[in-house]
Amino acid sequence: MDTLILAIESSCDETAAAVVKNGRQVLSNVINSQIDIHTRYGGVVPEIASRNHIKNIDAVVDGALTDAGCTFNDLDAIAVTYGPGLVGALLVGVSYAKGLSYALHKPLIPVHHIKGHIMANFIAHPELEPPFVCLVASGGHSHIVLAEDYLNFKILGRTRDDAAGEAFDKIARVLSLGYPGGPKLEALAKDGNAEALEFPRVSMKDNEFDFSFSGVKTAVINYMHKAEQKNSAVNKADVAASFQAAVTDVLCKHTTMAAVKNGVQTVALAGGVASNSNLREKMLSYADKHGLKLYYPPPVLCTDNAAMIGCAGYYEFLNGNVADLSLNAVASIPLSD
Ligand code: KG4
Ligand code: ZN
Repeated sequence: MDTLILAIESSCDETAAAVVKNGRQVLSNVINSQIDIHTRYGGVVPEIASRNHIKNIDAVVDGALTDAGCTFNDLDAIAVTYGPGLVGALLVGVSYAKGLSYALHKPLIPVHHIKGHIMANFIAHPELEPPFVCLVASGGHSHIVLAEDYLNFKILGRTRDDAAGEAFDKIARVLSLGYPGGPKLEALAKDGNAEALEFPRVSMKDNEFDFSFSGVKTAVINYMHKAEQKNSAVNKADVAASFQAAVTDVLCKHTTMAAVKNGVQTVALAGGVASNSNLREKMLSYADKHGLKLYYPPPVLCTDNAAMIGCAGYYEFLNGNVADLSLNAVASIPLSD
């Protein structure tokens, strides 16, 4: 028998709903992005994000059902992101999902946002099976995760300071590119020379898979300040390309090492930064060199969406992980117990 899940995602600045069949078949995937609103402020304003989720969620859920050609009665369960994320933003999706679950008498499935990002790979690649090592690089997180099966995820490495996406966003601001920084910096970097400037690639002695991006960020900021003081011209495209190369070098090196040292033959990318084409190309060449198979989702499944939450929710549902109406939004939740 088929299992139809309505999934809801509202952890940051995307209001999203999707209908997913049997975990991997996406019947609809509606995303209302607030990027244009937050661009005016140079970043996500939590209170404004929450208010816009409230404004949009009805239409987004309606759209997901219509696109999937189904009604509330056809659904088997409601899955929702309950964290990590902006707590006010999460609360909108969680409250809405709880309301639906109560009114429709359908099970409520709590989903961890980062698990969702990793699971996007299962939607894009029906043949993919665990175990694999996944780099999750988004605006709030940079983890190297061992996906042991569909429910258990072990963190092998993590950032000690900024997330990779956060570093992209900050350097984009320094280069006056605006928000969201990642895609804008990537576009500018295409016209630059990645070897023009040497920015640091940091490794930690006590965990070789961990990341630190504050050093590269400071190096770029110092370079820009010095140029300004000397009144010397800056080639912003070279700065963008050299910064991007420093970040993607470390992401690829540590992810590959984590797979090799854990005896895993498959690697995957997830999260907003996984849509970066320099990262994808470089990771492909690292994977080839080490005989690893590489998977990554299309860009629309890398950035925040509800289809990935529907996929993760399906496996939680199969495992009987159902919440009651006391489910709350949580700003920070560990990936594994
Ligand atoms: O996964 P996501 O949509 O939201 C979070 O859960 O954080 O990731 C958003 C992050 C932002 O920091 C954005 O700048 C970054 O992903 N990003 C990129 C690219 N597209 C999005 N970073 C680098 N290159 C890109 N093409
Ligand atoms: Zn995300």
